[in-house]
Amino acid sequence: MSSPTLSTEREKFVRISIHSHIKGLGLKDGRALPKGGGLVGQVKAREAAGIVVKLIKEGKMAGRGVLLAGPPGTGKTALAIAIAKELGEDTPFVALSGSEIYSAEVKKTEVLMQALRKAIGVRIHEFRKIYEGMVTKMEIRFGKHPYNPYQQIPIGATITLKTKVEERTFQVDEGITAELLAKGVNEGDVIWIDSETGKVTKVGKSEESPSKYDISSVKVVPIPSGSIIKEREFIYTVSLHDLDLMNARSGSLLSLLFGGGEEREIPPEVRKRVDETVREWVDNGKAEILPGVLFIDDVHMLDIEAYSFLSRAMESDLAPIIILASNRGFTRIRGTDIISPHGIPLDLLDRLLIIETKPYTKDEIKEILKIRAEEEGVELEEGALELLTTIGSERSLRYATQLLAPAKVIAQGRGSKVVTKEDVEKVKGLFTDVRESARYLKEYEESFLK
Ligand SMILES: Nc1ncnc2c1ncn2[C@@H]1O[C@H](COP(=O)(O)OP(=O)(O)O)[C@@H](O)[C@H]1O
Ligand SMILES: [Mg+2]
Repeated sequence: MSSPTLSTEREKFVRISIHSHIKGLGLKDGRALPKGGGLVGQVKAREAAGIVVKLIKEGKMAGRGVLLAGPPGTGKTALAIAIAKELGEDTPFVALSGSEIYSAEVKKTEVLMQALRKAIGVRIHEFRKIYEGMVTKMEIRFGKHPYNPYQQIPIGATITLKTKVEERTFQVDEGITAELLAKGVNEGDVIWIDSETGKVTKVGKSEESPSKYDISSVKVVPIPSGSIIKEREFIYTVSLHDLDLMNARSGSLLSLLFGGGEEREIPPEVRKRVDETVREWVDNGKAEILPGVLFIDDVHMLDIEAYSFLSRAMESDLAPIIILASNRGFTRIRGTDIISPHGIPLDLLDRLLIIETKPYTKDEIKEILKIRAEEEGVELEEGALELLTTIGSERSLRYATQLLAPAKVIAQGRGSKVVTKEDVEKVKGLFTDVRESARYLKEYEESFLK
């Protein structure tokens, strides 16, 4: 039961990998521990986020959202991820920047719709009939290719499976034979075959396998117990968007020919069909809905149309938790002449619980850098940590954390495992932060105009 892989998975991975140290809000009885769940300080915001988690779990956040407001590098994204983690490991977390909704190929409301639907998980329970056992004998039969008599192709196989209680031989068709070959199944492997699709899954090498290596990358597993033919429950989580894509693809031949993967619009009928099917599954106990978190960063980049779309989406019963983040004060609502707090329309602001994040103290920055260094496997000399802390408080926390990996490369170049103050100074000279690079380009432009 493979869950579909999406091209966005990688993107998401890159974007949240700088937050990989965050495991939760680090609360105990509603109070923030000085250090917990990978988080340091930001006590009030973490406790407020804890209340949000409670409201979500009690189903009292419907139709409402959260706004994280604070300067850059104060942990807004980190907090949003922590909230998702508190909701459970399986909870979908989708991050989007306000500017990402403007694409040449897809309407902005479609981008938002896809993001909303990626943030709703459907946990499907399915009983499937499978054939499971250790392969004791396997004989593949080859025959002539129907169109090319010089080519031999597998046309079937005889396979003997064994469990602790029985051993049986099966004739399998060419589809399953091709699967057996593709998965590299050998005698001694424990496998299972899905009775309906013929998909073969290799579980590992059996403990009783005749060929054994001292060192092997293949997992060694016991011989399955029970009978060979059995019903097994499979649980897998997909998003509504995954289901939309699957349904849109199998829709017609034309959709296969002209469908361009992610970057396209999904017809409303497909979404309606998916919603109906999912509701049916839920009613029959076949599936559960897992509302996740849709995090929209730089929310002031959204325009009035996008805001009204979001407001409407928040009222739907199939809606994720929407967390917005802003580092702007009063600014113009895009697409209007109205000045509003964070550039967000008032009617939407009314539905938001606002959590402020404050700049960190030097000690907190030091603690965060220590956690990040450990997470990235970077060993820091005290002087290096001190300098990074100064950089973190004078420039930005993000800039300081970004210097960790290149500093390690410099240290390794010297043949050392430990990063020194000099290594940090060197990378600081090599990589500038955003503010500086922008200032440099501005000066450069001005010198041209003279
Ligand atoms: N309180 C905290 N504890 C631990 N790490 C933090 C904390 N706040 C921020 N970070 C980390 O510092 C970096 C910058 O924070 P980030 O969440 O991106 O800030 P923002 O979204 O407000 O710009 C990230 O790597 C983040 O995980
Ligand atoms: Mg952020």
